[in-house]
Amino acid sequence: MELDLAGKTAIVTGAGNGIGAAIVARFVAEGANVVVSDINGEAAEAQAEALRKAGGKAIAVTANVVDAEQVEAMVAKTVETFGTVDILVNNAGLTRDMRITKMTEADWDIVIDVILKGAFNCTRAVLPHMNENKWGRVVNISSRAHLGNRGQANYSAAKAGIIGFTRAMSLEAGRNYITVNAVAPGIISTEMVRSLPHWDSIRENAEKTTPIPRVGEVEDIADAVAFLASERAGYISGDVLHVTGGRY
Ligand SMILES: NC(=O)c1ccc[n+]([C@@H]2O[C@H](COP(=O)([O-])OP(=O)(O)OC[C@H]3O[C@@H](n4cnc5c(N)ncnc54)[C@H](O)[C@@H]3O)[C@@H](O)[C@H]2O)c1
Repeated sequence: MELDLAGKTAIVTGAGNGIGAAIVARFVAEGANVVVSDINGEAAEAQAEALRKAGGKAIAVTANVVDAEQVEAMVAKTVETFGTVDILVNNAGLTRDMRITKMTEADWDIVIDVILKGAFNCTRAVLPHMNENKWGRVVNISSRAHLGNRGQANYSAAKAGIIGFTRAMSLEAGRNYITVNAVAPGIISTEMVRSLPHWDSIRENAEKTTPIPRVGEVEDIADAVAFLASERAGYISGDVLHVTGGRY
């Protein structure tokens, strides 16, 4: 299936590592121009450099998605370099897991801010360009945790919130042929989760309880995002694609 992503310009937030890095690599493999955006400028630059070495069109932009001015500057740099922005993947995220009685206000705020305010800032900044083009794709990275996980009150609330945001945005943006969808990954083997102290038992449990008996790989998510960002998914909007190996 031809995804027709060649020549499109995609911004992926949190693309210096993990799932975001796999998404930009997939976009480049499809011939898209990519903006590797991350609060960690060194990680973003390393990814962009590797993609350029492989013949891709990629720039790195250091931006904290919580900061509206930095997000506006990221979009301005994208337009200056590639002419417009066609695709946004709101991928930046983080966890601060603990029972609610131990959770500080700062633990709550940072998770809600990065995931929800980050998606708000970035979507608001790209939509004028997509409206002008009468074409656009926004893919928000939620999580299976939107269903609720122990020790993840902040993260589950943010990842459920991103689904409400996705639905509201799909209603607002559709008139200009812009689709807005969410991808909800299950357990994906990234540095973030492999560094958890109980990673081995998480992996073993996933292998036992997931209908597809393995943990997910970053490429599983990149494939789903590439499809939703493509020409082929132009009549899918406001939806949530679970990429969880059937564990739902
Ligand atoms: N790994 C999993 O099992 C899993 C499962 C479900 C959902 N997710 C979601 O997928 C996304 C990517 O996760 P990952 O596992 O690749 O994690 P990761 O930690 O490898 O990557 C997240 C990236 O986001 C960046 N980031 C953090 N705060 C930021 C900010 N304020 N502004 C800009 N960038 C920021 C980090 O620097 C990092 O590069 C997240 O939204 C995460 O919640 C991951």
